[in-house]
Amino acid sequence: MNASLQFSNAPEFVTSLLTVFAVDNGSAPDAPSISLLTAEQAILAAAAPFLNSGEFKADAGGTLLLHAPAGLKAERLLIVGAGKAAKLSTAELRKAAGTAIRTAKAKSIRDAAIVFPKLNENLDAAEVSRALTEGILLADYDADTYRSQREDRSMQNVVLLGDETSRGALERGFAEGEVFAAAQNFARTLVNEPGNVLTPTELGKRAAAMCEANGLSCEVHSTEKLKELGMGAFLGVAQGSVQPPALIVMRYKPAKAANSNVIGLVGKGITFDTGGISIKPADGMDKMKYDMAGAAAMIGAMQTIAALKPAVEVIGVVCSAENMPSGSAYKPGDVLTAMSGKTIEVMNTDAEGRLVLADGLHYAKTLGATHLINAATLTGACVVALGKLNSGLFSNDDETVALFREAVNTTDETFWQLPCTDDYRELIKSDIADIRNTGMDRWGGAITAAMFLKEFVGETPWIHLDIAGQAWIDESRSYIAKGPSGVAVRSIVEWVRALAQ
Ligand code: BES
Ligand code: ZN
Ligand code: ZN
Repeated sequence: MNASLQFSNAPEFVTSLLTVFAVDNGSAPDAPSISLLTAEQAILAAAAPFLNSGEFKADAGGTLLLHAPAGLKAERLLIVGAGKAAKLSTAELRKAAGTAIRTAKAKSIRDAAIVFPKLNENLDAAEVSRALTEGILLADYDADTYRSQREDRSMQNVVLLGDETSRGALERGFAEGEVFAAAQNFARTLVNEPGNVLTPTELGKRAAAMCEANGLSCEVHSTEKLKELGMGAFLGVAQGSVQPPALIVMRYKPAKAANSNVIGLVGKGITFDTGGISIKPADGMDKMKYDMAGAAAMIGAMQTIAALKPAVEVIGVVCSAENMPSGSAYKPGDVLTAMSGKTIEVMNTDAEGRLVLADGLHYAKTLGATHLINAATLTGACVVALGKLNSGLFSNDDETVALFREAVNTTDETFWQLPCTDDYRELIKSDIADIRNTGMDRWGGAITAAMFLKEFVGETPWIHLDIAGQAWIDESRSYIAKGPSGVAVRSIVEWVRALAQ
């Protein structure tokens, strides 16, 4: 899809679909109940008779489509609701832009234009421009590339129609939006790949190609190096598969760093999780190709960082393996020695993500990481606790959480903090080793998984994102089609940028 920002007159713009956003003013006595977010008289006039009909409420996600709108060059005028005027936000506008594109796609319309909305004083033009661009580009993605009879419905051309007076801000936001959306869509493409295509080796190749194209250095290691490093936990998980593991290390070094921070991004890259000897039920197991979504988020984040060039050093570490049952697989009762030296009693081979991350987090520290963040589809328990509308957030440091929260404020990605305090440590004690890889019982499973990771980060400020519930979406939403979401890319990058101050 070709997306561009132009500064032409909207009523005169020739397009199959001109989109304008609308808000609901509530029940203010003198105001019309619905306002279009444009000052263009011709658009207001074309829409007026329909808006007054009462059919359209400007609810977030609501749409009204008019054919041959009087006085406009566009073939159609699409009005997209952005909710209550008082609550208008960049998040709502990202959704509204996505709704416009997904509406166009459903009708096989291939070109569209979106009128940049008239903003109130609470909204920043550059941020809105970025959000709209993200909404447009993310909404164009569909996970249907493997259909042989695929009807390509992707948009060919989408124009964001801006106002000349804020050209600079709009251009800045647009350029950033393109970078973020491209990386998030790349992450989605990786997550969508089936396990037979995207093996750990293939994931390594794709990460290396991304690094090569974006000026990052990259190393991809396998079994030999893991042995050399003493990554017994990671190796334990990998040993049941004929597919060799991949340890992917991506590095970004700024020309001039603002401080001595080194940020370690660590991703769980299980390209398929059968559960291993503690095998999962057949029902829904196909989904476990998305067990590398944390890795994909980190690879996408590195791509964004390469383009935005924040003034801070970043190291991306991906631990990729396939979790299989076989004659060579690790077993419940086995004791593994992690790279840090800690011994782990394996209680359940399906709790493999925390094992590969244990070595990944420790390794990132040995490479010099002063701050750590990991993303992982780590536990079903997190999905039980939070549903699919928030990812779990765990940390060993309140200040780090406060900075993260502030940084991710406008990303429209939502995280809910769960406890990770030492009183839970009891639950991962082992009778024969330092720790065990599952809790004593099934309660608090997302927390015991986080407690396990915490053992390997020590005093280093650290954030763990459990994205099991959000990395794969069962039903399409405003700007995200069903399938892989690419969640966490935007937030991880914003946190990195906050640490570059
Ligand atoms: N990959 C799964 C977690 C998962 C579940 C991701 C559902 C996405 C959707 C993880 O490796 C796993 O199997 N965890 C177990 C841990 C248990 C054995 C302690 C789980 O959550 O059941
Ligand atoms: Zn598992
Ligand atoms: Zn898993």
